Amino acid sequence: MTRNPTSRPVSRRGLLTGGAVAAGGALTAVAAAERSGHRDGRPAEVALASAVGTSVEPFHGPRQSGVTTEPPAHASFVALTLRPETDRAALGRLLRLLTDDAARLTQGQPALADTEAELGLLPARLTVTFGFGPGLFRAAGVDDRRPPSVADLPSFRIDRLQPAWSGGDLLLQICADDALTVAHTQRVLLKDSRPFATVRWVQQGFRRGPGVEPGGHTQRNLFGQLDGTANPRPGTPADRAVWIADGPAWLRDSTTLVVRRISMNMETWDLLGRADRELAVGRRLDTGAPLTGTAEHDAPDFAATGPDGLTVIPDFSHLTRAHVTDDRLKILRRPYNYDAVPTAEGQADSGLIFTSYQADIARQFLPIQRRLADRDLLNEWTTPIGSAVFAIPPGCPPDGWIGEQVLG
Ligand code: HEM
Repeated sequence: MTRNPTSRPVSRRGLLTGGAVAAGGALTAVAAAERSGHRDGRPAEVALASAVGTSVEPFHGPRQSGVTTEPPAHASFVALTLRPETDRAALGRLLRLLTDDAARLTQGQPALADTEAELGLLPARLTVTFGFGPGLFRAAGVDDRRPPSVADLPSFRIDRLQPAWSGGDLLLQICADDALTVAHTQRVLLKDSRPFATVRWVQQGFRRGPGVEPGGHTQRNLFGQLDGTANPRPGTPADRAVWIADGPAWLRDSTTLVVRRISMNMETWDLLGRADRELAVGRRLDTGAPLTGTAEHDAPDFAATGPDGLTVIPDFSHLTRAHVTDDRLKILRRPYNYDAVPTAEGQADSGLIFTSYQADIARQFLPIQRRLADRDLLNEWTTPIGSAVFAIPPGCPPDGWIGEQVLG
């Protein structure tokens, strides 16, 4: 039971499943708006708000948003553990509720019975992307619908995984250009999830804010590197590496996600000179150009040698080890930086929430990760401390819900 802004008790689920759906939702928002002197359900200041606040990303469609969407500035990755009694039918109820919340909030409308309706009015390119971990398929008794590569990753010798950052049955990936929008959305989704699931971990990350750099600019991570240069571009053939194009309804237009929390040792990185930092990755820090080129998108020449006879781009550089030439085997990286509370001595707790989307984890992600775990100069300063895998099911039409093809 939740309370609406007029303090009338409202049954959250009753609103969604009963005839009062439309009326209840509209009344909630309008009541909140009227009481604070807003017109058309929107406060006067919203009309003046910059384009950042009012920008909207689509929610409905064959594919979920938040994968090839240009990454907004803030992200919260919320992994839930299903309660033992949450079976297939309960999952259906949960996902109907969450889909309804996400469909409204992403379009700048408060959720049904939203207790802070004003916070739902500025979506700032909000996307909510749902991911299904291996445990969800088991709980629902539909393991035959799990994309086979969505399974626990093998352990790598570089791993120092902590349970506090690993695993998860249901992932809510919430991204927006405004941290308040992300926080409100997370609160709404978690309130509705409580009867069905508990919170396993939450990882919050950030990139450059909107308008800070021109659109399409590659983001920088906390080592100062341009991170994302070699990503497949939407609309190019490599885009096909991300989405599953055929198969049954629960697979078509889906993808898979690997989330790795990778701690970056800022203290030892600080000790490194600029030239050595560039050698570790194989790219320049200022332009992001490969060490054999001058512009960011120049093709690296791994065979070029210097006066000392050594390759200009070191054989064990991150670039050499991670490089993929076959478009079908590329992964789409969508990393967010994290910067947690430093120690009393001022030592950073920073790193990357590394996320990668690909049609098949085993075929695309794993070979790259194996090469990196085996030999990558960057391993000296980076340590994976969390790991999780999810299927990202297809999107849904306005009268559907996320997961319908898998659980329906
Ligand atoms: C904290 C950890 C990491 C950091 C700081 C990092 C940083 C970078 C940087 C600076 C680049 C070059 C620019 C670019 O193309 O984006 C790069 C490229 C790349 N990274 Fe990472 N990375 C990390 C972890 C990973 C992991 C875990 C994987 C996959 C298992 C990965 C896969 C790749 C790939 C595929 C490329 C593109 C290589 C190419 O084809 O040119 N990285 N990374």
